[in-house]
Amino acid sequence: MREKLRVGILGATGMVGQRFISLLENHPWFEVTTLAASPRSAGKTYEEAVGARWKMDTPMPETVKKLVVKNVNEVEEVASEVDFVFSAVDMSKEEIKKIEEDYAKTETPVVSNNSAHRWTPDVPMVVPEINPEHFDVIESQKKRLGTRRGFVAVKPNCSIQSYAPVLTAWKEFEPYEVVATTYQAISGAGKNFTDWPEMVGNIIPFIGGEEEKSEQEPLRLWGHIENGEIVKAESPVITTQCIRVPVLNGHTAAVFVKFKKNPTKDQLIEKLINFKGIPQELSLPSAPKQMIQYLEDDNRPQVSMDVDYENGMGVSIGRLREDTVYDYKFVGLSHNTVRGAAGGAVLCAETLKAKGFIAKK
Ligand SMILES: NC(=O)c1ccc[n+]([C@@H]2O[C@H](COP(=O)([O-])OP(=O)(O)OC[C@H]3O[C@@H](n4cnc5c(N)ncnc54)[C@H](OP(=O)(O)O)[C@@H]3O)[C@@H](O)[C@H]2O)c1
Repeated sequence: MREKLRVGILGATGMVGQRFISLLENHPWFEVTTLAASPRSAGKTYEEAVGARWKMDTPMPETVKKLVVKNVNEVEEVASEVDFVFSAVDMSKEEIKKIEEDYAKTETPVVSNNSAHRWTPDVPMVVPEINPEHFDVIESQKKRLGTRRGFVAVKPNCSIQSYAPVLTAWKEFEPYEVVATTYQAISGAGKNFTDWPEMVGNIIPFIGGEEEKSEQEPLRLWGHIENGEIVKAESPVITTQCIRVPVLNGHTAAVFVKFKKNPTKDQLIEKLINFKGIPQELSLPSAPKQMIQYLEDDNRPQVSMDVDYENGMGVSIGRLREDTVYDYKFVGLSHNTVRGAAGGAVLCAETLKAKGFIAKK
């Protein structure tokens, strides 16, 4: 039997860390062997450290309950036990940048959920269906870090998953101006309604830093490698408003688009449902079979009906229609802690393994 890669999770006790643990239960390639969190949790069993904070719908896997949580800052000790790590620690941006590179320098690849390295020029930020070729920039990063196999790779922000894949599917029609309003779930802030009762029946029109990420990160996905660095694309211009809504899981986006070419509605739908990339071609374990579904009913996509499409790894689109000011408008929905966070990172790691960037130490 093929031996699985040993995986560590940095920030294992948090919302995203818990999602990693749930998604990796019974994973065919990866086995969670090491959990790390803040010094507050270090030395406790995972079950004790998480206590009442377990937020997943499925029970905590038996295989992790008795693992003793390590201190994220004890880099050598954590790194010595694993082939690579997923990172979901909540520290300052500078601390995260440093600690993720410290892990890389121990020859431990880091697949990160954090935003700290998203604009580091030689760090790939990837949605595997959109820009897997950006992983090639890892060779330049390794030279900078002086490593053989250690590197940092990241996935983009959760908010863009409800429209960036759609705009990618429509690339040949040359979208050049996009307006998006996102309606974002509270789990995106690591919270549920018990820890954030003020969100019941409420809307908050501000999510710190989110609009800039939602406008700029798609451009980096559509960029190219030049002299060992990612150079972002210049178009389409995107403007956004990001709003927190009383939903547990699922980011919705209402989007308006102008195109240079003039696609028909049928052409746009055809591009959506046929959109695929490396994960589908290689049948990677976490790949959705069909990444984007188009729903004809006027009242779809709905969070309660559609957020778990393709186990939370797919994107649901509906209400595509012509607009009076823009060319077309539509509504998109994706699962923010699956496709938008841990699931997106797991799919990146599977792609990295398939491409030979992650192997046994
Ligand atoms: N939630 C989402 O949907 C989402 C989506 C995309 C990105 N993110 C990003 O992912 C990261 C984690 O998010 P989350 O929602 O899972 O946060 P969270 O629930 O607050 O969990 C934070 C994790 O980081 C650890 N931690 C906190 N302070 C630390 C310190 N000083 N040193 C070492 N470890 C420390 C915590 O350990 P203890 O339990 O020991 O305190 C916990 O394991 C954040 O950077 C967030 O911005 C989240």
